[in-house]
Amino acid sequence: MPNNIPKPTTKKADQYDEGNYNYLHYWAGRDYEHASEEMAIRRLLKGKHFKTAADIGGGYGRLCIFLKNFADHVTLAEPSRQQLTIAKDYLKDHPDIDQVQTQADNLKLADKSQDLITVIRVMHHLPDPTSEFKEFKRVLSDDGYLVLEVANYAHARNRLKHLLKGKRLPTDPVDIRSQENRRDDEIAFVNHNPRTVIRHLAHAGLRVEKVLSVSNLRSPRLKRVIPHAVMLSLERIMQSTLAPAYFGPSIFLLVRKAK
Ligand SMILES: C[S@@+](CC[C@H](N)C(=O)[O-])C[C@H]1O[C@@H](n2cnc3c(N)ncnc32)[C@H](O)[C@@H]1O
Repeated sequence: MPNNIPKPTTKKADQYDEGNYNYLHYWAGRDYEHASEEMAIRRLLKGKHFKTAADIGGGYGRLCIFLKNFADHVTLAEPSRQQLTIAKDYLKDHPDIDQVQTQADNLKLADKSQDLITVIRVMHHLPDPTSEFKEFKRVLSDDGYLVLEVANYAHARNRLKHLLKGKRLPTDPVDIRSQENRRDDEIAFVNHNPRTVIRHLAHAGLRVEKVLSVSNLRSPRLKRVIPHAVMLSLERIMQSTLAPAYFGPSIFLLVRKAK
């Protein structure tokens, strides 16, 4: 990795343990984003069913119940004690979903034990995901799939901003917390250039099979004026057509082990 990237993740990924923060509340008013993400996962995994799946950095388990459509056995693998406390209640009707307190650079999961790994909205906590990518490869079965979501710095609006200022788009991860809001001890919150992420995956022996551009219409104003069903119909078209341009704020990658 280059030297000028933001600070790496704190050794212990406990940033969601602060105060009484409840990540469930973050999702109020974000039905469009949630549905767009499920749509993307459904498209990437179309027709597939696995024995085992692990949602890494899965928070309180927002996607775990949905993942049961794709695997006989789902594990929520999450470092935050507070997220896991919320999960106890959120997943109370799904005792078959295992909950493991663990973080992505040292997963408490056996070698080749998972046929599917999902890592959604976690990359913005990983400025240098080298050790995490190594772990994903280790726990993935030989024919397994990784669905990796990338917080996309190269989205259309940023690209336009850079163009208008005559600046090149950075290839290194960018800390998107404003300087004045960031304390020295605070964890980096980064957006990535998807091309760089794809290169790092290749370096870790992981190859990208499919790309989708997701949450393309993420905008409070649009969500207010356009009916939800229409937003999702547009999203359905945009996810694949705009993928080659890395248009949206969130890029979903379907990844496999390189042969
Ligand atoms: C924005 S939340 C997303 C939660 C869930 N994936 C979702 O999409 O609803 C980010 C999650 O990543 C977890 N996280 C942060 N750093 C991590 C790391 N190094 N390894 C694994 N998980 C991490 C946090 O504890 C938090 O639950």
